[in-house]
Amino acid sequence: MAEYKTMIPCQRHLFEIPEGVTYLNCAYMSPLMRSVVDAGKAGLERKARPWEIRTEDFFNREEDLRALAAQLFHCTANEVAIVPSASYGLSTAALNLPVARGQKILVLEEQFPSNFYPWHRLAYEKQAEVSIVPWPEDGDWTASVLRELTDDVAIAALPHTQWTSGGLLDLARIGEACRRQGTALVLDLTQSLGAYPFDAEKVQPDFAVAAAYKWLLGPYSLGVMYVAPKWQNGKPLEDNWIQRDNAREFSGLVRYTDGFEPGARRFDMGERSNFALLPAATRAIKQLLEWGVAQISETAGALNRQLAAAAAEVGFSSPPEDLRAPHYLCLRRKVGIPAELPDILARQKVFVSVRGSSIRVTPHVYNLATDGDRLIACLRQIAGG
Ligand SMILES: Cc1ncc(COP(=O)(O)O)c(C=O)c1O
Repeated sequence: MAEYKTMIPCQRHLFEIPEGVTYLNCAYMSPLMRSVVDAGKAGLERKARPWEIRTEDFFNREEDLRALAAQLFHCTANEVAIVPSASYGLSTAALNLPVARGQKILVLEEQFPSNFYPWHRLAYEKQAEVSIVPWPEDGDWTASVLRELTDDVAIAALPHTQWTSGGLLDLARIGEACRRQGTALVLDLTQSLGAYPFDAEKVQPDFAVAAAYKWLLGPYSLGVMYVAPKWQNGKPLEDNWIQRDNAREFSGLVRYTDGFEPGARRFDMGERSNFALLPAATRAIKQLLEWGVAQISETAGALNRQLAAAAAEVGFSSPPEDLRAPHYLCLRRKVGIPAELPDILARQKVFVSVRGSSIRVTPHVYNLATDGDRLIACLRQIAGG
């Protein structure tokens, strides 16, 4: 594969990816940068010396994370909650959004389970209905959503990137349509935030969440959630002491209070001050912002564009470029994927996700043009070419 022109030069030196490993699977789990591992280790080591952990240490790190995440969401730090997972954030949204009997909750076909089960439960409890946007034959998920967005839809629970096709949703258009219909908009941005630009001011979602361990290049068991101002008086998923307005006064914690910390902080998870995970996630997002999300998208997109063209020559198709997220390429073959492909890939140390009839290729700034060549060489083997 020819050298491709990227906006960010290859950053592999910041990661611990051995020579000979082709890692094209960020949508599964990103590798961590060395600096992120160091930040996490230092945090874990602090717990070996608890006498050095001061009251204010429970409160300073998470404000850094909130402020950085706010730059990714395009909102203020006050609108960001710290959560352990996407499902936690989506369950919080489901706890707060009204839906009446007979109304609909819209999800996409093959939507990730964390953004399905909370709605399935809510629909059951309220005698509402989960309505599924069908897989668009032409690859246009936005048009498909807009067709299904009728005035009986109370909630549209959607991603930015549909995770089994890489299809991209035009959230600004969908957000506008939701506001016209009075439909609440909830977003799972786990497969896009940090790798594809998002703007809460333009989209105006009610809730939007992203787990940190994929495109935020962060640790597992952490995520960030945007909460629109109108829901900031809502009900947290759990009641914990650290969300409360007297939390900073350790000697007065049992003077129980009904007050919360301001903004979205009331939705923070218990033990949100995690001394290892927070500094690690903060370090990772800082680096993402230094590179720039649009530039990351461009960089991953440049490799995927070349891969899509090379894969087409060996019989694989992919959605049209204007309908898929640049960082997220799903390759399909009419005749399916032969059973020996996972073995071929494993032998060559080429890591992608093989799911049913599709191969998911999700590069990042640590990939080289030669990674693309190595994947194509494997695909050539099964094509017999
Ligand atoms: C679209 C999407 N959402 C969310 C998640 C992770 O969900 P959770 O944080 O609830 O484990 C994944 C993981 O693969 C995903 O692909």
